[in-house]
Formats: sequence, structure tokens, C-alpha cells
Amino acid sequence: MKLVLVVSLGVALVASCPFGDEEIKAGKRLIKTSFEEPDFVGTFSSYFSRYYQSPNGTESQRWLLSQVQDSIANYVGNATVNEVVHPFGVQNSIIARITGSDPTLRGEIVIIGAHQDSVNTFGALLAAPGGYIPKRTIEFHWYAAEEVGLRGSAAIAQIYNTNRVNVVGMVNFDVPGYHIAGRDEIGIYTDHVNAEVTTLLRLLVDGYCTYTWINKTCGYGCSDHASWTNYGFPAGFPAETVFHPLMHRPGDNFESVGFTQVNEFVKLSLGFVVEMSEPGSL
Ligand SMILES: *[C@@H]1O[C@H](CO)[C@@H](O)[C@H](O)[C@H]1NC(C)=O
Ligand SMILES: *[C@@H]1O[C@H](CO)[C@@H](O)[C@H](O)[C@H]1NC(C)=O
Ligand SMILES: *[C@@H]1O[C@H](CO)[C@@H](O)[C@H](O)[C@H]1NC(C)=O
Repeated sequence: MKLVLVVSLGVALVASCPFGDEEIKAGKRLIKTSFEEPDFVGTFSSYFSRYYQSPNGTESQRWLLSQVQDSIANYVGNATVNEVVHPFGVQNSIIARITGSDPTLRGEIVIIGAHQDSVNTFGALLAAPGGYIPKRTIEFHWYAAEEVGLRGSAAIAQIYNTNRVNVVGMVNFDVPGYHIAGRDEIGIYTDHVNAEVTTLLRLLVDGYCTYTWINKTCGYGCSDHASWTNYGFPAGFPAETVFHPLMHRPGDNFESVGFTQVNEFVKLSLGFVVEMSEPGSL
């Protein structure tokens, strides 16, 4: 999987916010090398088409787990993958963790989350082999059971709250794929989120993405970021600006995923990981 090359370059960006020109250029170079290759969209869409063909929740979770395990197998730093078994269902959540290299900063946790039954599996592609080792600890979460009341993320946020885990920033990626012609925008949701994370997301879109951003609201705790917000953790939520009119219905299928737009979300998630990998932004 060539997408993982992004972390093979050994480039550590100096995080600061707002970003200097040189930092943005370095970050963009990093992204360009892997994410803007001509066949990126084709590679990405075949990856997702296999995901969509997974017959049921258990099988797709196992498939996803194997993808995540493969993607960290040759990582030069210390990375692990764990399943979180939930009492409420057969599908487990998955947590991949890159342990920070700095003995103090590794206690500061950065989380990229997505739920498994969405197309947001790209976190797997970031937790990849190569020479890029963050100072903080970076976790990639795939939550079970989002569609039935955010139960996977709520269970994990509760555990982190009980264990007093120092989460310095969490971003939830959900519904990035529905694109409307002429609307090359990323929605930055402003309710049930943390203001500082949200401000950072706007800067990241400005610095890393081709798309622009607009403010949006859900009106309720519409996805897994809300579980983290509920426990007082700093969380943000970028998503498509207009939700798919057929969301969760038959027309909400693989063919309707706009991979060029998904690519913008990949750049945003990568920017978040890179900028948050040491203190400076948040
Ligand atoms: C679906 O999931 C169950 C476990 O819940 C498993 O036993 C079964 O083999 C899976 N596959 C299909 C095609 O039903
Ligand atoms: C990985 O873990 C080992 C053993 O704890 C440690 O010696 C090493 O420095 C760690 N590597 C990184 C990059 O943190
Ligand atoms: C977006 O929302 C933030 C605060 O939630 C506000 O400060 C800013 O002016 C808004 N920007 C636009 C372009 O609507």
C-alpha cells in the first residue's frame, strides 16, 4: 500500500500555530509525495470497495483489523494494535497506538477516530511503516456500534476518563464522501466540539487542503466526537458540508463516494497528526 509512504520520509515538522510558510511547505511536500500521486484515488477506491464488500459487521471488523496489523507491521517505532471487546455486541472496537518517542510527551495522547461502518478507514494508512516517529503518542480508533448510539466511542471515552488519560486532542472523521458539484468545502462542525481543536482544524484546512472550510452545526451529538466531548476531552469534527440525502439507505453506496473529496480529508487528518505530534498547536 503506497499510501503509507507518507511516514517513510523521516520528516519531522516543527509544529506551531499559526503555521509559518516553511512549515506548511514541508507538510505539503510530505503529503504530495504520497497522497497526490495520480493514481491515489484509484488505489483508495479499490481499498474501499473491498471494505464495502465485507459481508457483515464481524467480518468487516476482522478484515479491518488485519489491514491495520499489516500497515504497522514494519513500523520502525513502537506500535501496537488492540481490540476492545464490548459487552453490547459482536463487533469489537480497534485501537492502533504509536507510542511517542519522548518519555514525557508520550503521556499526551492524540486521537484520530472513525467508526467502522463508515468509509473512514484511512487512519490505517497513516499508522504505517517508515521513519516518522511522533514525540507524543498517536492513537487511531475504529469504533464499533456508532450507528446505534455512539456506544463504542462512549465506552472507550469512559475508560479513558476513568484512567485519567491525558488526551490533548481528538478528531472524529465521519461522512467525508458525499460531494456536491461546486461545493469544494469541508464542514467544520461547531457544536458538541472543543473550540481550540475546531480553530486548529480551520487552520489545517487553510494550510493543507485544496478545499476551503465553512462552519456547520449538527444540532445534536451526531457522531463519535460527542462521546469525547461528553467526558470533557477536547474533540473536533470535520465532515462533508451536506450529508448524503440517502444516508444509511441503499443509494448511500460505494458509487456515491467522492474520492477526490475524501482525499482532502486524508490531507486534513495527516495535517492533524503531524502538527499534533508534539506540543505547539494544542
Ligand atoms: C457474519 O457474522 C457471524 C458472527 O456474528 C459469523 O458467524 C458469520 O460467519 C458471518 N458471515 C456471514 C456471511 O454471515
Ligand atoms: C521502543 O521501545 C523500546 C523498549 O521499551 C525502547 O527502548 C525504544 O526506545 C522505543 N522506541 C521509540 C522510538 O520510542
Ligand atoms: C465560524 O465560527 C466561529 C466560531 O464558532 C466564528 O468565530 C467565525 O467567525 C465563523 N466563521 C465564518 C466564516 O462563519
